[in-house]
Amino acid sequence: MTESITITDNRTGESVEIPILNGGVDSGGWAKLLGNVWFSDDAFSHTAIGESSITQIVGAEGILRYRGYPIEQLALRSTYLEVAYLLLFGELPTPDQFDGWRDEITHHTYIHENFRKRFMESFRYDAHPMGVLVSSLAALSTYYPEAKDIEDPEVRMRQIVRLIAKVPTMAAAAHRFSIGMPFVYPDNDLDFTSNFLSMMFRVAEPRYHCHPAVRRALEILFILHADHSQNCSTTTARVVGSAHADPYSVVAAACAALYGPRHGGANEAVLAMLRDIGSYENVDPFIADVKAGKCRLMGFGHRVYKNYDPRARIIKEAADEVFQLAGRSPLLDIALKLEEVALADEYFISRRLYPNVDFYSGLIYEALKFPTNMFTVLFAIPRTAGWLAHWSEMLERSSRISRPRQLYVGHPERDYVPMAERTPSA
Ligand code: ACO
Repeated sequence: MTESITITDNRTGESVEIPILNGGVDSGGWAKLLGNVWFSDDAFSHTAIGESSITQIVGAEGILRYRGYPIEQLALRSTYLEVAYLLLFGELPTPDQFDGWRDEITHHTYIHENFRKRFMESFRYDAHPMGVLVSSLAALSTYYPEAKDIEDPEVRMRQIVRLIAKVPTMAAAAHRFSIGMPFVYPDNDLDFTSNFLSMMFRVAEPRYHCHPAVRRALEILFILHADHSQNCSTTTARVVGSAHADPYSVVAAACAALYGPRHGGANEAVLAMLRDIGSYENVDPFIADVKAGKCRLMGFGHRVYKNYDPRARIIKEAADEVFQLAGRSPLLDIALKLEEVALADEYFISRRLYPNVDFYSGLIYEALKFPTNMFTVLFAIPRTAGWLAHWSEMLERSSRISRPRQLYVGHPERDYVPMAERTPSA
């Protein structure tokens, strides 16, 4: 038997029965009965933007799966590039498919010299790398005018490859410029993650060698951040993409949303918060301030997870190995204490606030020697695959342009008053 709901319009007594399909009810049934009555849901808390077969989250149980594969298995056994393939194509690649995919990505890592020198290096010397990345992504669309042809699957795939391949290069370029170091060209003999580390950190050595534990930790972080269903930035990508903007503009818009401290910017904000707290003894007064509404405990809470974010658990485990190598950060002790106090406190328990992915990711990034202003960039690099997977999926399903309604609560009609006759409003 199909499950359904029945809505009755008490003004007319008319009813409509709407089937519940895949956990949702189609707004078409609602519209048939209620015409110009809009469903009010200002932060889309109860609105499904569409169907998707990419990422499944069961928030209450702390479950996250990409294309059906549990995140824990992927973090343990996969690589970012393989996960990107999985997100985009729906299946894990065979060895031949993976070789082809890696080859494609590897051969698109270079960015146009003119683009780097004339555009990227024209920012102020201390520009935030996330601001540089957002602008550079948008500017890249001018280098690939064919990208506007979003109806052609081959053209689309070419831009997807370019974006996944070039984002790390642009990210590293933004960092090197901000610290006054020369740009490091991509090294096509290195894997995706090692190549990024090389572009970030290589100085004068002929080839950059990273510790396998460092490479693996970053790989895990890339896997964990690759997608997360309809988060703020992915929804932005879908909304902008629904207007048929080119994929560079789509990813730039998504990246701008990620920049916000409530979203991807939270990892940077967590570190700032931990530094502000400064010592173990200040944890309790800080929690009191949070409860008094003076500030938020950054890295805690999630719209979907009302349980421990599975990514936070994996990161916490991965952190141990990194800290063994890099030495334990005093900020980690503050974070652990914060978590302990918060998880035992009625304020956080009753609101079901748990650590999210960003609570520990910044600490690992710091131990891996990334500057704080690169943390959100480190999120954007792998999330590019997720944004593009959703963009492709949406276009393949030929969605309509996103265009929500509003509930107008402004003035009713009134007449224009000449300026000299106006009185100041309250
Ligand atoms: N610290 C203190 N209180 C919080 C926190 C927090 N981090 N998060 C939510 N609350 C409280 C709210 O004040 C509210 O309390 P109230 O009912 O008394 O008013 C209640 O919990 C519900 O909060 P909402 O803001 O309605 O929750 P929402 O789902 O809209 O927000 C969000 C989710 C934005 C992630 C929020 O929890 C937050 O701001 N967290 C801190 C920032 C952060 O870590 N962001 C990263 C999220 S993961 C990611 O984007 C990758």
